[in-house]
Amino acid sequence: MSQRPRRARRVQLSVPGSSEKMLAKAAASRADHVFCDLEDAVAPSAKVEARNKIAFALNNLDWGKKTRCVRINDVSTEWCHGDIIELVEKAGANIDTIMLTKPYTPADVLFLDRMLNQLEKKLKLDRRIGIEVLIEEVQALQNVDAIASSTDRLECLIFGMGDYSGSHGIDTAEIGATGSYPGDVFHYARFRIVMAARANGIDPVDGPFGSFKDEAAYKDEAIRARTLGMVGKWAIHPAQIDWALDVFSPSAEDVANARRLAAAYEAAEAQGLGAAQVDGVMIDVAVMRLVRNTLEKAELAGM
Ligand code: COA
Ligand code: MG
Repeated sequence: MSQRPRRARRVQLSVPGSSEKMLAKAAASRADHVFCDLEDAVAPSAKVEARNKIAFALNNLDWGKKTRCVRINDVSTEWCHGDIIELVEKAGANIDTIMLTKPYTPADVLFLDRMLNQLEKKLKLDRRIGIEVLIEEVQALQNVDAIASSTDRLECLIFGMGDYSGSHGIDTAEIGATGSYPGDVFHYARFRIVMAARANGIDPVDGPFGSFKDEAAYKDEAIRARTLGMVGKWAIHPAQIDWALDVFSPSAEDVANARRLAAAYEAAEAQGLGAAQVDGVMIDVAVMRLVRNTLEKAELAGM
């Protein structure tokens, strides 16, 4: 398996590809990752023209260190192949990843993978475009392990709870809110997706939250996702960017503590000890895995 690029995905900002103004705002934002949308945020009558707007924005705006992603229409639509061909032909050198909507099976992901193989050869691109997929159909959740291991281009699985709720028949009034159900209605799906992603060395990310003025509710959902092992969450509005960065970046205190524990463990190891204690808390190889996770998050966050 080839080495996948490591990218920060604390927040993935969704931007309608039909809006030049929002594309410019997204490029200038603080998001780690922006996906320019050709799917649900773009009306059918605007989809073909949105390809040109996205290609122009990718080629001409300053995106800083952001991951530049394009979200395409699913393989059952008349737009999918055109989205892939036109975007890669017009802006392939400035696309980091393509996000596939509504796959059901690995074959759907491999359709995109094979198209990219051909286009990269034809255009002699010297870089490899990564794939991200939305798990938003019940069939996708049933096939999540096979999807997660379908291609080494795959970098990320995203839980799309809006469409997933529709596909599954979950009774929820608003996108991403888990309501009064005792427990979290999305717990199983999130846990399952994180397992499949981790087993294949790829990033699990949590999807949208619709009420973009409700910071407390957004952060509740983000903290649930983080606790289960997800690395980030979507923003559908610029207001949500800082909330996600806040939840998915380790605090300065967490990082300082992790560095202290790592130093204490190294000192213990140098003395031939397998376990040590720091302020009454045991540290051993297993604790060091958690410590290293925090240090890795800090590195990706540039801390
Ligand atoms: N990306 C970049 N800029 C955005 C943005 C986004 N997703 N959402 C809003 N903005 C901009 C607006 O253009 C506005 O800019 P201005 O201050 O220069 O006028 C500013 O941020 C504030 O926006 P606001 O007026 O609060 O909201 P709005 O009515 O313009 O837009 C939505 C609200 C929901 C229509 C808009 O946020 C949106 O389209 N979000 C993305 C939806 C989407 O991608 N759905 C599919 C994935 S679930
Ligand atoms: Mg969807």
